Amino acid sequence: MNGEIEVKGAKNAALKAVAAALLSREKWTIANLPKIEDINRILEMIEDLGAKVKRPARFESRSESGGSDKVEIEAKNIKKSRLSDKLAGKLRASIILAGPVLARTGKVSMPYPGGCVIGKRPIDLFIAGFQKMGAKVKWQNDHFSLSAKKLKGARIFFPKITVTGTEAMMITAVLAEGETVLSNAAMEPEIPALAEFLNKCGARISGAGTPTIKIKGVRKIRGGQTKLISDRIETGTFAILGALCGGKVKMKNCNPDHIRALLVNLEKAGARFKETKNELIAWGAKKINPVNVTTHEYPGFATDLQPPFTLLMTQAQGTSQIHDPIFDGRLMFTDILNSMGANISINDPHRATVHGPTKLRGRKIASPDLRAGITLLLAGLIAKGKTIIENIYQIDRGYEHIEERLQKLGAEIKRIEK
Ligand code: EPZ
Repeated sequence: MNGEIEVKGAKNAALKAVAAALLSREKWTIANLPKIEDINRILEMIEDLGAKVKRPARFESRSESGGSDKVEIEAKNIKKSRLSDKLAGKLRASIILAGPVLARTGKVSMPYPGGCVIGKRPIDLFIAGFQKMGAKVKWQNDHFSLSAKKLKGARIFFPKITVTGTEAMMITAVLAEGETVLSNAAMEPEIPALAEFLNKCGARISGAGTPTIKIKGVRKIRGGQTKLISDRIETGTFAILGALCGGKVKMKNCNPDHIRALLVNLEKAGARFKETKNELIAWGAKKINPVNVTTHEYPGFATDLQPPFTLLMTQAQGTSQIHDPIFDGRLMFTDILNSMGANISINDPHRATVHGPTKLRGRKIASPDLRAGITLLLAGLIAKGKTIIENIYQIDRGYEHIEERLQKLGAEIKRIEK
């Protein structure tokens, strides 16, 4: 692999910014929005609720790339308070819409949110937070509804650090009456980025990016323009690709600081990097050393980077231990790597031992979820022979025109069905 690859806007920042646009009756312009399926789904969801969305040409095309990445959203009227069953079932992040719809209309109902098959995805911390802010909750089978004439500020302690939970409570508290204090909040870089933009539009949020966030409720959120931060998981994935495939891979428009925990471990594994504020160059490791990692909330080693790092370890000269305590289904994809020739044993749902080095062989496989999907794609690049990956919707959920961007680095990859 040799050449340059541009890192796109952060998926997990984009989903939350689109949801937060519902707080305002005025127009929000969001730039650097990645052209991926998860964003298409959330835009369809807010349109279904009554928001007007203006997309540039080719925004939704998987076969044609290029064009602007700027989308306009105007949520003057929210006509519905029931989220589409079909769409909410496809996207875990749909729960982020509950707070803004509740704040704007006094009620919201939705099915239990769907999404990646990476283990149990409870929503108890969201429900408890909404209740603290004064919402009444009703469950009917797998649907729930929330109602509150007026949301009130509250003190919310998260017994477990939750990224979307922190963002959901922060967004909901913006239009609530009085002050909300979130303790043991998540610190992922997408959170201060969203808070900073909300503040430009009239919100009063302080402490985002630390474990304690304070939000003073306001009556109105104005329109505005924002450019999303770069996707740190894409940056990390390409850095691992650089380490795996040799050569020199330059990542443009990224923030190496956001993947510090990964870079430290990639250096231990033998990869070399050079960085500036918004670029990162990775040189492949001549010999890959085994490295043990444990995933952790930010600024620790991201669970979303565990699958490609595990793949890297299949090429290491020795045995490594991978511990992913955050979700209980994030190591299941290793079965597929084993079917390609890897030697990974699962010790329990959170721990795997990778015995390297192993030669991988290409075969026909299917992508089980987004981060496992991109990992299998990278495995296909280093495997001997041809790999066919099915269910690539899972990869298109989070990586824009991936085949075209990897072709530019020298990968032999093509989309079979458009
Ligand atoms: C976000 O998921 C990301 N998704 C995930 O990325 C990422 O893996 C995860 O954070 C961890 O970094 C989005 O931002 C859309 P959590 P989220 O709530 O917010 C438990 C990707 O591939 N929990 O921080 O849903 C939960 O089960 C995706 O881009 C509860 O127990 O994750 C987990 O064990 C996959 N109750 C832990 O908290 C709750 O009510 C952390 O999950 C909520 C969460």
